[in-house]
Amino acid sequence: MIYTVTVNPSLDYIMYTDGIREGLVNRSKNEKIVTGGKGINVSCVLSELGTESVILGFTAGFTGEYIRADLTQKGLLHELIDLGNGMSRINVKLKGDKETEINGQGPEISRESVDILIERVKKLCSEDFLVLSGSVPISAKNLYVKLAQIAKDNKVPFLVDATGEALTSTLMYNPFMIKPNIHELSEIFKKKIETVDDVVLYSRKLIKQGAENVIVSMGDRGAVLVTQSEYFYKEARKGNAINTTGAGDSLVAGFIHSFHKDRDIKKAFMFGVETGTIAAFSEGLPQRVDLKKIRV
Ligand SMILES: Nc1ncnc2c1ncn2[C@@H]1O[C@H](COP(=O)(O)OP(=O)(O)OP(=O)(O)O)[C@@H](O)[C@H]1O
Ligand SMILES: [Mg+2]
Repeated sequence: MIYTVTVNPSLDYIMYTDGIREGLVNRSKNEKIVTGGKGINVSCVLSELGTESVILGFTAGFTGEYIRADLTQKGLLHELIDLGNGMSRINVKLKGDKETEINGQGPEISRESVDILIERVKKLCSEDFLVLSGSVPISAKNLYVKLAQIAKDNKVPFLVDATGEALTSTLMYNPFMIKPNIHELSEIFKKKIETVDDVVLYSRKLIKQGAENVIVSMGDRGAVLVTQSEYFYKEARKGNAINTTGAGDSLVAGFIHSFHKDRDIKKAFMFGVETGTIAAFSEGLPQRVDLKKIRV
């Protein structure tokens, strides 16, 4: 089974406006609420692709209850741990001529809750696959290191899609795949990385530090896959990008879906890039009818 981890799920409150004027009362023309979080996005897209997964992580309060109910209603499997205090965050997304976002902090994650998640991950085996996506709040600072260590001990292949230390601290446990975007790669090395040659050069440094494979996504330029011995660059299809949030999560989902079917890393990479592109060309996350058209 594939397991995705979302440490800090959210409700995204999206308000459509004619523009925001600071310091004044503004009105929205329309609004909607969407369950969010990077691991949850990966599970949603996997489900649209026809691959089952289980969502792990933490929720709290009435917003947490809504998140669980929404996932259940969508037919997604989840084992979210109730934190018992606080509430899962609401991220406010203001859409006008520009886009402004205010992301919530989220509830404090207790040691006991972390331990419950750790015990759950200890039950995974080498047939399973673990996905660690998104940032980790300060109260669960070393969570990815611990989960990566357990995964290595139990020979569970795992993928990390996170930034900074949350990503680099897992390298010594040999993640099967890491997926920084080009900005995150630049941040890690404190150097502006722009060319494909440089992407390959710096990805190889991450492989030296322990990653088995690296995918660096580059938005509308596509992505690069770097393995122990080779690299592949795939350009993204050109088109009308209307929403690139979640494109990276979609790439990850497409990669995992294809890799689980065919165990062909290059094919899975190309499938992932195309899944990301379909996400960029869609209003929300990519839908089944569009994903069915993928041919790689
Ligand atoms: N404008 C675009 N046109 C075509 N394809 C795109 C575009 N933006 C993203 N993609 C596709 O989606 C993939 C992932 O995009 P990107 O590099 O933006 O991920 P990301 O920054 O990790 O996104 P997020 O973390 O918000 O999910 C790209 O490799 C590409 O295949
Ligand atoms: Mg990303």
